[in-house]
Amino acid sequence: MDHCKEEISRVLAPLVMLEESRIAGLLEEPPAPEMGDLAFPCFTLAAQKKQSPAAIAAELGEALSGRRGECWEKAVARGPYLNFYLDYPVFSRDLLKKIYEAGSEYGRSNLGKGGAIVIDYSSPNICKPFGIGHIRSTVIGHALCLILEAQGYRTIGINHLGDWGTQFGKMIVAYERWGDDEKLQQDPVNYLYHLYVRFHQEAEKNDAFEEEARAWFKRLEDGEEEAVNYWQLFRRLSLENYDQIYDLLGIKFDYYHGESHYNDMLDDVIRMVQEKGVAVESEGALIVDLEKYGLPPAMLRKKDGATLYLTRDLAAAQYRHRTFNFVKALYVVGAEQKLHFQQMVKILELLGFSWAQDCIHIPFGLIRFKEGRMSTREGKMILLEEVLQKAINLAREIIEEKNPGLADKESAARMVGLGAVRFGDLSNDRVKDVEFDWDKVLDFSGETAAYIQYAHARICSILRRSGSADPAWSDEAIAALGREEEKALVKTLAAYPEKIEASAASYRPSILARYLVDVARDFNRFYHECPVLVDDPELRRARLLLILAVRQVLKNGLGLLGIAAPEEM
Ligand code: ARG
Repeated sequence: MDHCKEEISRVLAPLVMLEESRIAGLLEEPPAPEMGDLAFPCFTLAAQKKQSPAAIAAELGEALSGRRGECWEKAVARGPYLNFYLDYPVFSRDLLKKIYEAGSEYGRSNLGKGGAIVIDYSSPNICKPFGIGHIRSTVIGHALCLILEAQGYRTIGINHLGDWGTQFGKMIVAYERWGDDEKLQQDPVNYLYHLYVRFHQEAEKNDAFEEEARAWFKRLEDGEEEAVNYWQLFRRLSLENYDQIYDLLGIKFDYYHGESHYNDMLDDVIRMVQEKGVAVESEGALIVDLEKYGLPPAMLRKKDGATLYLTRDLAAAQYRHRTFNFVKALYVVGAEQKLHFQQMVKILELLGFSWAQDCIHIPFGLIRFKEGRMSTREGKMILLEEVLQKAINLAREIIEEKNPGLADKESAARMVGLGAVRFGDLSNDRVKDVEFDWDKVLDFSGETAAYIQYAHARICSILRRSGSADPAWSDEAIAALGREEEKALVKTLAAYPEKIEASAASYRPSILARYLVDVARDFNRFYHECPVLVDDPELRRARLLLILAVRQVLKNGLGLLGIAAPEEM
């Protein structure tokens, strides 16, 4: 489509005296197919020339009457618009051939030119189980890695584990008092979590616990062996559990640089903010006054000498810039941490780092199950593991019912179940809260992964039945396509690269996710009206090549969301 826009802009430029890029930006898609495929609105020009837009459109229509271009066959004025009609035989042939030849590369580009983008995502907190709240960061962050890579960036995925902080003091107190070695080995993460909850319950009744926890954390910060051993044990057991989840989701991080990774760099951060006069001592604490910028003061060191989450993020940002020389550093973290990242960026700016603005918080809303938001503290917690397992089980039941003869139900159930969870999240605009509804995310006819996967599997089945899973290309055959449903489908396929670009530019996987629903829907409309395995060999070949392209786009697109495309389900 871009290619056509360019051509049309070239043709219009001398007629309207606007720059080509300006014209390309003005071209829009008319609301109905009978109004053509690309429309040039004449309002801007009308204002300049003090003429009515309709008069200008008519004039342009006149000037282009009888002409055609490489990809368009006619231009007709209609009201204030000049409507261009694509030359479908040519447009379809070029597009489908391009997809056919590019295959899994279709939609990828080199816009990023290898620039490094650091993506800080998932980042659960040790000793707390991997809760459903972290699923959004995990799923969105992973999709962003895949999408940005497809745009030619070099992505660096970092899991900024919450592996340091006062919670370790609490855990040690709880473990020393009530801990049981055997239970810990049996089910480490849940058991640690159980202890964590217990600590909070007991601490409400007895202030001494909090004090004790602070003392333990201090010993940990001082590197005392006993404290460090506990910390290592808790960290290792938690990580082993997270890794099972990441394996299930097919996620690999480039680095597990948790908060503790920056311990050695904190003194430098403190020295730097002091030397540059960015922070001031206040009652023993170290504070950055951000009032001028409309932000509350930021604490970088408490009066007991302990550093904070923010101090470690300042160290991490500098380390990342030094190490990876990023063009962007993304933080895929819930919207509730907005202020934290505003403070971080502002302080980096005050420290004089020119790249401060390249650190970008990618916020997202809460995820709710019908039961309401889950908090670690209250002891009610939905575990991601359980959610994933439940999704797979439900998918298995549905497949069992719909397709009892399927050979490998287990792998289909996995693809569908995991896809449902991912897509249920990714298809929502990330800044909005998500309500997770099991019936909805697994609805085969709704706006779901299963709907898209089903279209993909259906195409695979048609291709199998056609006797050739890989029909050979034919320029001539494509001319047989001409039905409205076919045109609509071709046009939708053409939009794929733009959709990836838009997703990447706004860090919104939802744009791609919704687009894939459109592709599946257009395919279903087409298939409803246009049988593929017809007798006419040319038409059969043309339609097979068309659905082959649809399959490619669905597969490529799902892949960028981290979702598998089953051949049967
Ligand atoms: N562990 C944090 C949490 O669960 C998220 C860390 C996000 N990354 C960062 N660099 N601050 O809230």
